[in-house]
Parts: sequence; C-alpha cells; structure tokens
Amino acid sequence: MNILAPSILSADFNVLGEQIQTVAKAGAQYIHVDVMDGIFVPSISYGMPVIKSVRKSTDAVFDVHLMITEPVRYIRDFVDSGADIITVHVEACKDIDETIRDIKACGVKAAVAINPETPVDKIMPYLDDIDMALVMSVHPGFGGQKFIPDVLDKVRIIRSYYRDNNMDKDIEIDGGINFDNLPEVLEAGANVIVAGSSVYRGDAAANTKKFLELMR
Ligand code: DX5
Ligand code: ZN
Repeated sequence: MNILAPSILSADFNVLGEQIQTVAKAGAQYIHVDVMDGIFVPSISYGMPVIKSVRKSTDAVFDVHLMITEPVRYIRDFVDSGADIITVHVEACKDIDETIRDIKACGVKAAVAINPETPVDKIMPYLDDIDMALVMSVHPGFGGQKFIPDVLDKVRIIRSYYRDNNMDKDIEIDGGINFDNLPEVLEAGANVIVAGSSVYRGDAAANTKKFLELMR
C-alpha cells in the first residue's frame, strides 16, 4: 500500500497541532517527525516534549525519524512520547542489531535509514529484521533541498531483495519529493512517501489530496 507521510519540519510550529490535523484529515496516513541533534546533522529541530504535546492532535501514525547519534539511548523516551515507528540511521549507531531489538521490544515498528552517500550494502544485513527501510534522497538536516535521483538505484535493489524473498515490506523515501518526481520514485519501488515543503508550502490540505490521488 502507498502511504503519504507529510514532514512537519516544514509546518508552522506556531500552530503545529492544527497543521497536523489538516494533513491527517485530508487523508495522510503517517505524520513524519524529524528529530535532529545538531551532531549527526548540523541542525536541531525538536524532541520528546513537542512530540508528546502534538500526539494529542491526531490518531495518525507517528513516523519518527531520528537523525541523532546513538539513538539507542532514547528509544524508550520516544515511544513514551507517542512514536509508532522509529527510524534510526545506520551511520549513527554503534550496534544496529541491538538498536533494532530495543525498538521492537518497546512494541513499535523499527526502521533503518541510509544517507545518500551510504552504499546499499550497509543496510542489506538488516532488511529481514526491520519493518521499513528508509532511503534518504537528500543529505539529512534540512527541508526544501533538491532530490538526488541516484538514490533510486538503492530503492530498486532493496525492492528486488524484498520481492525475491517474498517480503512485502515498506520502503520509505525522504527528501525533495514533489509532484513531478513522485512517479519515478513509486516506479522504483518506494511506497512510503515523505514530503515536507511540497505539502506545507501553500495549501497543505489540497497538496495532501493531490499527493494521495497521484499515489493511488
Ligand atoms: C530532511 C528530513 C526530511 C525533510 C523533508 O533531513 O529528514 O524529512 O523534512 O523535507 P522536504 O520534503 O522539503 O525535502
Ligand atoms: Zn525525515
């Protein structure tokens, strides 16, 4: 199933709860929540107190993307704040197996992300264990960047692996997705689509509906 995950990094934080409700009511299945620590990525976004607070605004799935060093330290805190899916970066974990185990032990879905410059081999050993693979299509840290089309080869390789092994798992793509590149992204095999600026720039409800229409 194709799923839209609007990234609230591009939302108006002054009315964040409402901005979440707008896209959820328009049909977005996930809310993509980008957490940045200023170390793994240059920027700092928001953390548990904000997530906990906006959790009350919707029943939509909270897809929490941790762009933080050694996320294993905070898994329980993010689950307690309301995360339904937790994504960690291969580049940010000393022990990925342990981190995946901890996420699953908390009763939420586990996902692993790879940056644009990270070879696909780095994620292959974890594909059986995780619920979702996240392929970054920009360098993480900021919204509104330009899509890097080369990463679609990694999406294709992961999708082939899942297909060959009869695994119907999710592949998420994150960064620079818009109405124009959406078809090629879906074609490559991604089925969870993160979109920040192309949802929240302008009419968020209309943009969400248009995305969902194109993803049917
Ligand atoms: C980038 C974040 C993305 C970002 C996407 O580091 O992981 O989720 O919000 O924003 P757009 O869709 O504007 O590239
Ligand atoms: Zn993200």
